[in-house]
Amino acid sequence: MRIKPDFRRVFEVDVEALCVSLFEEDTLEDELLRELDRRLHGVLASALASGEVKGKFGETFYTPTLGGLAASRVLFVGAGKRSDFTTDTIRRVAGTAARFLRQRGIRSMALVRRSSLDLRASAQAAVEGVLLALFDPGTYKTQEKDERTIEEVRLVAEGESEAEMQWGIERGMILAKATNFARNLVNEPASVLTPVELARRAQDMAARYGLDIEVLDEHRMKELGMGALLGVARGSDEPARLIILRYVPEEDEALLSRLPTIALLGKGITFDSGGISLKPAEGMEQMKYDMAGGAAVLGAMRAIAQLRPRVKVFGLVPATENMPSGRAQKPGDVVRTLSGKTVEVINTDAEGRLILADTITYARRLGAQKIVDLATLTGACVVALGSVYAAIFGNDSALVEQLIAAGREAGEKLWPMPLDPEYREQLKSEIADLKNVGGRKAGAITAAYFLKEFAEETPWAHVDIAGTAWLDENKPYVASGPTGMGVRTLAHFVCQSAEGESSDRR
Ligand code: BES
Ligand code: MN
Ligand code: ZN
Repeated sequence: MRIKPDFRRVFEVDVEALCVSLFEEDTLEDELLRELDRRLHGVLASALASGEVKGKFGETFYTPTLGGLAASRVLFVGAGKRSDFTTDTIRRVAGTAARFLRQRGIRSMALVRRSSLDLRASAQAAVEGVLLALFDPGTYKTQEKDERTIEEVRLVAEGESEAEMQWGIERGMILAKATNFARNLVNEPASVLTPVELARRAQDMAARYGLDIEVLDEHRMKELGMGALLGVARGSDEPARLIILRYVPEEDEALLSRLPTIALLGKGITFDSGGISLKPAEGMEQMKYDMAGGAAVLGAMRAIAQLRPRVKVFGLVPATENMPSGRAQKPGDVVRTLSGKTVEVINTDAEGRLILADTITYARRLGAQKIVDLATLTGACVVALGSVYAAIFGNDSALVEQLIAAGREAGEKLWPMPLDPEYREQLKSEIADLKNVGGRKAGAITAAYFLKEFAEETPWAHVDIAGTAWLDENKPYVASGPTGMGVRTLAHFVCQSAEGESSDRR
């Protein structure tokens, strides 16, 4: 797909469909709308007067132009209240337009700038909106392949800066493609995307974008003493892997040694059957998405490799299946984690926290000064926040705030949750240092608390994406299925950390 800025007048842009957002407050007093209406022979005025369009968010009004302007059609897309307008509105309006137009066989579209929000951020959001909306989950269907797609997108902004537009377009493409890369991984069936295959795809990605990569096998995990990760892997015939990606900016040694190191961790359970604590059959097929956190980390690392921030970043993905078998870990087993702490496994279905515990310890040993993990960790999180907000927890409020802000910029919502020491009670075991479940109450919190025990003094945050990594229903601006939740938040977070860094040095 080609995406270009266009600095001509709106009426001169020769695409098949021109998209104009419409606010609830809009009237024909607006210069652009008045001129459009004049060229459309009063169509907009009559639609506004009849109430057919009100500017409500997500609304669409499509009309041919019959030669009134260079574009052959105009699509008005409701953008809601001007007072609620953010870059995320741009993302969603652009997405709504792209999906609407693709369905109607349109191949070239233009999006008209109608706000004074930061130009770069606006261009970036528009590009993200289009590319995320048009994401087609690859399917294994042998028929009915719909080949129609939008080939050209123009961002119309008369008289604006070309450099800023190009910067926004470039960043938008990087971030959206990285998100779609993660979505493709999540979408793969578990028998295709095994832990070994996930590691192989990480290797391909790393080679293509110039990241260092190391993949630990079970033998190495055993040497290191990763008893929690290996305990989960025991029941599976598919061998586990620990994927270790590393991004190092191009700086001289002296400067490099002063740059901070961030570790991004993602849960990579390629299939979660529950293990011996087997899940019910209903909905179990969905558990192929239990590696969405890992996919988000791979996507974020890909974007980071292209955006080249001045900060060192590790991307760590523990990858394994969680399966029942004659060799599987059993409820009541005690495992020794890499940290040395012992854990009583009460429920083998609480496996995410086990594999992350060892990975958090490993990240600390690698010298990470900040750790952020992403995981489809608990059903309790889905109950609490649904698919709108991801839950965020942490032992460092500044880090949590930074991530929430990064999420806001990315259009990914994070809601802060408590981690008071009182919750520790629920993880007490008779036989080991900790048990891996904390009972029915506060399930998302006790899971996070378990991880906190392994982060110890290192600033750490955990994002539970169980509800947000997968959408059950289509939205006008995005398809149902994997969302790529977290890719853009993590990438923004890392870039912002780097910016803070460079200004410190000045
Ligand atoms: N992967 C699941 C959590 C999950 C549930 C993700 C639903 C997405 C949708 C996790 O491994 C799990 O099974 N958690 C258990 C923990 C329980 C046994 C304490 C849960 O949430 O039920
Ligand atoms: Mn589970
Ligand atoms: Zn799981």
